[in-house]
Amino acid sequence: MATNRRALLKQIGLGIAGIGFSTQETFASDQELFGDFQADPIPGLRLSSNENPYGPSPLARQAFAKYSNASNRYSWTLGPALIAAIAKKTAVATENVLLGAGSTEILDLVCKLAASEKGNFIVGFPSYPYWSITAETAGLKKLTVPLTVDKKLDLPAMQKAITPETRLIYVCNPNNPSGTVHKRNDLEQFVLEASKTAIVLIDEAYIDFSTEKSMVDLAAKNDNIIVARTFSKIYGLAGARVGFGVATKKRIEQLSEIQSWPNGSTSVASTAAALASLNDLKFVQDSYRLISEARAYTIKELEKLGMIVIPSTTSFVYFSIKNFKKDYFKILETNKIEGTGLYEEEGKWTRITVGTMKEMQRFINYLQVK
Ligand SMILES: Cc1ncc(COP(=O)(O)O)c(C=O)c1O
Repeated sequence: MATNRRALLKQIGLGIAGIGFSTQETFASDQELFGDFQADPIPGLRLSSNENPYGPSPLARQAFAKYSNASNRYSWTLGPALIAAIAKKTAVATENVLLGAGSTEILDLVCKLAASEKGNFIVGFPSYPYWSITAETAGLKKLTVPLTVDKKLDLPAMQKAITPETRLIYVCNPNNPSGTVHKRNDLEQFVLEASKTAIVLIDEAYIDFSTEKSMVDLAAKNDNIIVARTFSKIYGLAGARVGFGVATKKRIEQLSEIQSWPNGSTSVASTAAALASLNDLKFVQDSYRLISEARAYTIKELEKLGMIVIPSTTSFVYFSIKNFKKDYFKILETNKIEGTGLYEEEGKWTRITVGTMKEMQRFINYLQVK
């Protein structure tokens, strides 16, 4: 996935480079930017980045259209309006919310803040890895703690791994790539203990697919607990780049100091679209239901094919291909399916994003071919 994402970013980068010094002909076409994945009907399937196949929501699309016309202006009002809507939705105060260009920006800012004192950070393996490059570049040493056999974060082992030099503990809940979630009570105990000496960063990118309660309430009152959330997943706005952090007023102020333009990284159109998405309850409910149905189908069919599958509360499925008799990756390649590589060599564990039911039926059909 890292390679896929880098390749895509590179392609986009090339497209943007053309804008600076040439005419329209040098703009990359949709085909160049996105490969086959935007074509209709799609010859390939992108099941790699846990994007919502149904988004953006109808109300978000309207907002994009309306606010693209206002994109010649900076907006001083949309950001605060989005913050107010997020605060209301998550039952915290506006002073507890910081907007970012995706939750990635929030994760990066927290890494930089934690790295203001040298030391180490703790992360499960495998877990969502990209932000950890920022932590390492900022001078923190990475300590990884393997998941349990049922592919959950090993909270007792993470607790044991904490040293006096630990500055940051990353908790991805639900965890990407394994799709497992911790019960609020278990996690709360761990987080309250771990946050006594270091910042606990809880990444809730997929919490909307789970019935477990978010930890934003704890983040709003404990300086050492910070929650990162995103509009990229259930809200279907991955390309719009809108995320937010929830923390105490003191932490939000500290994070704002290291964000070049506090709350200013999201575009006018993206901010308006995120705001509209929050009101599009039907879209969120439909996405939840459709993705849950396609996920249940995928899990059932993968099991029939001999895969070992981890129960998932997310928009992706983690499974072992070690008992699969055919060449799984060859099948993906032949049929132009973008999945992910192996996260764990031992046991041969890979991940697939849950697309639409039709996409998952195609994926399964390819795997079934004799
Ligand atoms: C666990 C997790 N956190 C954060 C992100 C980053 O999302 P974004 O920057 O689009 O909010 C992702 C994206 O796939 C993710 O899986």
